[in-house]
Amino acid sequence: MTQGIAIMTSGGDSAGMNPAVKCCVEYARKQGYEPYLIYDGLRGLIDDHIVPADRDKTSGILHRGGTVLRSSRSKRFFQLEYRQQAYDNLQKRGIGQMIVIGGDGSFSALNQFYHDFKVPFAGIPATIDNDIPGTEYCLGVDTALNQIRQAVDSIRDTATSFSRAFVVEVMGRHCGYLAMVSALACGAEVCLIPELPYDLDKIGARLMEEKNNGRRYVLAIVAEGARMSDHFTRWLSETMGLDARLTVLGHVQRGGSPSVYDRIMAYKFAVAAVESLKSGQTNAIMTFANGAFGSVPIETVTSSKYHLDQDLLRLCAPLSC
Ligand code: F6P
Repeated sequence: MTQGIAIMTSGGDSAGMNPAVKCCVEYARKQGYEPYLIYDGLRGLIDDHIVPADRDKTSGILHRGGTVLRSSRSKRFFQLEYRQQAYDNLQKRGIGQMIVIGGDGSFSALNQFYHDFKVPFAGIPATIDNDIPGTEYCLGVDTALNQIRQAVDSIRDTATSFSRAFVVEVMGRHCGYLAMVSALACGAEVCLIPELPYDLDKIGARLMEEKNNGRRYVLAIVAEGARMSDHFTRWLSETMGLDARLTVLGHVQRGGSPSVYDRIMAYKFAVAAVESLKSGQTNAIMTFANGAFGSVPIETVTSSKYHLDQDLLRLCAPLSC
């Protein structure tokens, strides 16, 4: 009997998930698997939202943002009785392997499922936060950075027209990657991220000197995880005497058609995931590091902390003081 393989997306959506789904299905089929799709993430796995991956389900999805499989966060999956229900859903269709496209929370959930029922899975990292240990790239990051770049370029237009200070808060629950890269790419004067200490006195002195030398507007990019956006905007206004505004970019960063880079990375991650399962790996997470695709055991992801690229951090450090 042909081996069934199920593909799902889980946790926060990100651009690149759809091309990854498409390529997982097509490549798995070429390798002799019978591909299935799980809709609604872990909730759908429990509630049996599982269908054969007919061609019409994956055509015309490549250019779409978000995930056509939809996603969810499921508290029920923490309970064994619901994981048993999920396992029964797979069993009755002859599905013996899974590919999950998502973040570390989803990988941990699937790892628990693997320990319960021995269903091997391969994880494809996808989160705009880019904070999964072991991989330098997670699907969706390039598209999110381009969304931010476009928004910040627009904000600069109005900031220069009014001689204002703009604070732009970008996503990153615990990680400053998006803020760091977009501050550099957009030429921000200030960048505040959880990974770098900041010094308001020094920032103030620097901005004042620049103002005296003709600077007419200020652009600051602040990571959500730094929890500083409101405070810093008030400080710019009350201490620095600037006409300051705060823009929180929010979920706009998670949407949009996947960039070319995200589409190509999605394809390569998908091939790596199918090959990982074919080679007998049981619970590995696909990685892109030092220019090559590979994988790490799930334990590497769950037990280590993500570190920002040191070269980029050094470039960004002057923007925090
Ligand atoms: O994990 C990705 C992320 O976009 C974070 O940067 C952000 O804090 C969070 O998801 C938002 O989650 P939700 O969509 O549940 O509000």
